[in-house]
Amino acid sequence: MKGTVADLTHYFDERPSVGSAPGSVRLVLPDVTLDLATDAGVFSRGGVDPGTKLLLLEAPAPAATGDLLDLGCGYGPIALVLARRSPGATVWAVDVNERARELTAANAAAAGLANVRVCAPEEVPEDVRFSTVWSNPPIRVGKEALHELLLRWLGRLDGSAVLVVQKHLGSDSLARWLGEQGHGVSRLVSRAGYRLLEVRP
Ligand SMILES: C[S@@+](CC[C@H](N)C(=O)[O-])C[C@H]1O[C@@H](n2cnc3c(N)ncnc32)[C@H](O)[C@@H]1O
Repeated sequence: MKGTVADLTHYFDERPSVGSAPGSVRLVLPDVTLDLATDAGVFSRGGVDPGTKLLLLEAPAPAATGDLLDLGCGYGPIALVLARRSPGATVWAVDVNERARELTAANAAAAGLANVRVCAPEEVPEDVRFSTVWSNPPIRVGKEALHELLLRWLGRLDGSAVLVVQKHLGSDSLARWLGEQGHGVSRLVSRAGYRLLEVRP
């Protein structure tokens, strides 16, 4: 199947070229259950990613108020859990992928979560600072683009961020690099090939 359009599709494309193939997944956590619409052309459409699930199970409670960020929201599992756990906060769900943004907006509406604001990166006002950032970042965009992305958004952090990264995709070198940029970095959890990194300004 080399050379087909599907081969050239990435979950981080702005407009996925692969045709729509709607699906749904159920996210079950001790405190939250959500049924989420998914589609072809978005990350982990067949089931909640194990790294995302680890973050949602193990991250410390998000700030109760203020502005929270899900960087790279996909179809929205992280953003919606933030919104459910912190109903007094505004959750910014940011993604470059238009289909992912549409799914997150629909999923938030279906779950009755009015405190989710779904945006393309450039739509978030520059003066917004985040008390909590949770992200399963897009490692596959490549090291340079990933570093640029993290510098851009972690520079707006007022509290703490939790990132989940697979060990074999470079979690330890990413942690070292974040430390070199002047962030405080600690490893919260290491399980099943994933690291949960806590980052402070
Ligand atoms: C690993 S996926 C995680 C998706 C979702 N949070 C989850 O846990 O299922 C990373 C997401 O980052 C998005 N992304 C890639 N580059 C981005 C950028 N420059 N700014 C914002 N989001 C980006 C991708 O489109 C993708 O949806």
